Amino acid sequence: MKLYRLLSAGLGALALTLSAQAAGGAKHPHPPKEGWAFAGPLGEFDMASVQRGYQVYREVCSSCHSMKLLSYRNLGEPGGPFYDSEYPNANDNPLVKQFAMEDEILSETPDEYGDYQYRPARPSDAFRSPYPNEQAARAANGGAYPPDLSVITKARGHGADGDGANYVYSLLSGYPGFDELQFGEDADGEPFDYYQFDHGDEKGRLVQPIGQYYNPYMAGDVSAYWDGDPRHTPKGGFLAMGPQLMPGRVEYMDGTEATVEQMATDIAQFLQWAGDPKQIARKSLALPALIYLVILAILLWFSYQRIWRKIGH
Ligand code: HEC
Repeated sequence: MKLYRLLSAGLGALALTLSAQAAGGAKHPHPPKEGWAFAGPLGEFDMASVQRGYQVYREVCSSCHSMKLLSYRNLGEPGGPFYDSEYPNANDNPLVKQFAMEDEILSETPDEYGDYQYRPARPSDAFRSPYPNEQAARAANGGAYPPDLSVITKARGHGADGDGANYVYSLLSGYPGFDELQFGEDADGEPFDYYQFDHGDEKGRLVQPIGQYYNPYMAGDVSAYWDGDPRHTPKGGFLAMGPQLMPGRVEYMDGTEATVEQMATDIAQFLQWAGDPKQIARKSLALPALIYLVILAILLWFSYQRIWRKIGH
């Protein structure tokens, strides 16, 4: 009897989770076609990509998102994208100095009139934030808060290698194209935007609320805006951030063609690095540690054989 009750409770819970998944849920994020250079126990960042990702952050994302846990000097430290062995002290690295200098930040000390003036940033300063506080950030973004991106790949990952980067990559390259958006009018003549779905069982119109953007990788539930079969509601959700990456949105310093995929790959790799700047140092310890353990195991085996040689067991 007890067992039966336990079983039915378990089945009930399972059915609930399954139906919850059917109703909402987002498309499963995936890595770029060529995979991640940093994946696997011996993986290393593709530093050219991390450098380009910094350019994307600076020229696109940094107008809305802060990265408060990073300072300019981190870019030039060992394991950083602009590390240069000629400048072991990142504060002396000319590129790092230049990146810092191009950003104006509010000075900590008031001037002779008691006002706070802007000054060029120094390598030791944290990355410049686009807004002085959360209220200002929300006010500028229709009430939504652009989250700090310092550890976003950790925050949106589930612990597996590259999870968070997959998410950033998929989200940023996964918006439907602008040309897919259609314009309609409701009975009162009010205009509205919608996407027409017509693949397999997903047939219907998904209306996009004003100030919100549909993205299949965003967590959420769009069923209230879907006029097709409720069992085939499109996956994904709405968010207040519109598509950010259009082809050629940045002009890469290294001449790489700035396709949407390329920029999404680079910014995701940069954010992965930013969330774990010491990853390379940690991984480069893994192989020697492994070799050491193998040799130790062999030695132990032989000494065991030697010590117990004369003793019958
Ligand atoms: C015009 C301002 C703006 C720009 C530019 C911008 N974002 Fe956003 N971003 C937002 C806002 C606002 C949100 C919050 C959306 C919400 O919660 O509905 C957001 C949310 C996000 C999220 C979190 C999504 C989630 O899971 O909650 C990520 C990741 C993100 N942005 C990455 C980026 C990256 C990377 C760039 C640069 C390529 C970028 N954003 C450029 C405004 C912006």
